[in-house]
Amino acid sequence: MSIKAEIQPSSVFIVSGGAKGITAKCTINLAQKHPCKFILLGRSELINNEPDFARECFDEATLKKKIMEYLISQGEKPTPMKVQGIYRQIAGSREIKQTLSEIRTTGSEVEYLSVDVTDTLDLHQKISDAVEKMGKVTGIIHGAGNLADKLIEKKTEQDFDKVYTAKVKGLENLLSCVNSSELEHLVLFSSVSGFYGNIGQSDYAIANEILNKSAHLVKQEYPGCHVVAINWGAWDSGMVTPHLKKEFAKRGIDIIPIEVGTQMLVNELQPQYHNTTQLVIGSPSIPPATTLEPELNKYTIRRQLKLSANPFLHDHIIAGNPVLPATCAVSWISDSCEKIYPGHKAFSCTEFRVLKGITFNETLASEYFLDLQEVGKDVDNHVVDFQGKIWSRNPQGKTIYHFSANVKLLKDIPTPPTYERLNLNLDNIITTTGKEFYQQGVSSLFHGPAFQQVKRVININQEKITTECFWQEISKQTQGQFPAYWVNGFTTDLSTHGLWLWLSHFHQEICLPGQLSRYEQFAKIPYNTHFYVSCEVTNKTTTGVAADFYIHDEKGKLYSQLLGAKGIIFPAKLMEVK
Ligand SMILES: NC(=O)c1ccc[n+]([C@@H]2O[C@H](COP(=O)([O-])OP(=O)(O)OC[C@H]3O[C@@H](n4cnc5c(N)ncnc54)[C@H](OP(=O)(O)O)[C@@H]3O)[C@@H](O)[C@H]2O)c1
Repeated sequence: MSIKAEIQPSSVFIVSGGAKGITAKCTINLAQKHPCKFILLGRSELINNEPDFARECFDEATLKKKIMEYLISQGEKPTPMKVQGIYRQIAGSREIKQTLSEIRTTGSEVEYLSVDVTDTLDLHQKISDAVEKMGKVTGIIHGAGNLADKLIEKKTEQDFDKVYTAKVKGLENLLSCVNSSELEHLVLFSSVSGFYGNIGQSDYAIANEILNKSAHLVKQEYPGCHVVAINWGAWDSGMVTPHLKKEFAKRGIDIIPIEVGTQMLVNELQPQYHNTTQLVIGSPSIPPATTLEPELNKYTIRRQLKLSANPFLHDHIIAGNPVLPATCAVSWISDSCEKIYPGHKAFSCTEFRVLKGITFNETLASEYFLDLQEVGKDVDNHVVDFQGKIWSRNPQGKTIYHFSANVKLLKDIPTPPTYERLNLNLDNIITTTGKEFYQQGVSSLFHGPAFQQVKRVININQEKITTECFWQEISKQTQGQFPAYWVNGFTTDLSTHGLWLWLSHFHQEICLPGQLSRYEQFAKIPYNTHFYVSCEVTNKTTTGVAADFYIHDEKGKLYSQLLGAKGIIFPAKLMEVK
């Protein structure tokens, strides 16, 4: 059964944790889009009459000073804990009032109940009083949650209880206050920490994962109810303090902007999304760097490749056959190194060689092997050097080497340098734009829509071409076995198209990648936004072409650079689709 419940003005939502933090922001946005009725729950008391010293005082430091003076005037010792406690009460109460006022301006009805969701009796009593006034509850948004981040051996029982019970006991209690079979919406605020795990958050991860599993159970029992456990990544608000935000930035974790997150919550409540019960929104939790041991290890990772598992290959056809882009081999090797040492990133990939490309036809091997040999390690500075080789066996059992590269992993990626020869002046020599590039000349033989993302040529001369690119992210399913993480095989491939255009423009030729001396990455090449590639051609002969590629933003700040790239000139007729 699938009921597509729409939110009506008479709908009544219980929102635990809905008066503060991100749940409050989401509730305000929901009220703006769908004015209805809300019962907000939180433990904090609403202070109707603020103490005199707090009136009209909104600056945190000044208010804390006034709290200290007040405590002294009362003969009390102004310990940091006492001051912080009073400050939290005042600031919390102000946040609640602000939320109530913003919800009321939408025309919605709203009430705040000061109640602990883990207190079964008090919760039942207060909710039944509110239901008398507002009407039957049609939806629950369970956003109440707490953190007590610590390594597991340092956690106390109280820490565990505080984190666990607000989520798990809280959900149980909330469901016991309503008639579940009549519920139309159940939204659980869960976290990527439950889905991926996170250091210092064993209690939080357990609680959130129980919410995830509960969502599936409730959905199974009440298929007519729209149930969704949203596994949020870190927001730019709520429990994410400025200190945590800095930590996330260091670890390359993207933060969800408030307006994006709140809009996603509203979208999730639309009837067309009612069949998704668990959803991950945001960056996965990237663990802090693992400690390195000095031994040099060797790994062999086996995998099977299938055309059906990699839909993007239909957009990378050479001579009629899908071929693995060389840049995906780079990401294959570098991603594998990163997985061995969580918290470290591939900074460079040197001496990359295409020895024998991988073609998805009858020559596709039943299994591929990636050998990773550690050849150097600086334990103190968190540096690991790998030698990587991808190989397979042919039907006669002979080893065939496909790609090789050296990868350097670092914990801290250097600050991006600036490309000094930046020139974004339009010369209007090539005026073709967008997909037209790929529908004419030799390049038409190669790339399909997933890769057709050079937007325009900014300028071109005998030594250099500058292109503007925009990678519209393709779905993870289309990215198949080569999903873009830190090193993105798709944007890197796209970054090299300028050389194709240069060869086509000046020589009516096409080339295939052969080798690359050095790939360095300082930042993720952005998705769904413009970036620029300055390609400097360093050599051109009848059989080959060499170039350096600098991938940067409009100010020249480098995302990555490909230095000493060499391509083999390929007779265009051999590329034709058979
Ligand atoms: N912010 C993020 O980046 C992020 C990421 C992933 C998931 N989430 C989830 O989103 C939810 C909200 O997070 P937030 O960042 O907005 O946190 P927050 O600012 O700390 O707010 C937590 C809310 O939960 C309420 N609460 C906590 N324990 C409660 C209890 N026992 N009974 C009743 N209310 C209780 C708090 O109100 P009182 O203090 O008044 O009790 C407060 O309103 C949480 O479930 C969290 O796990 C947040």
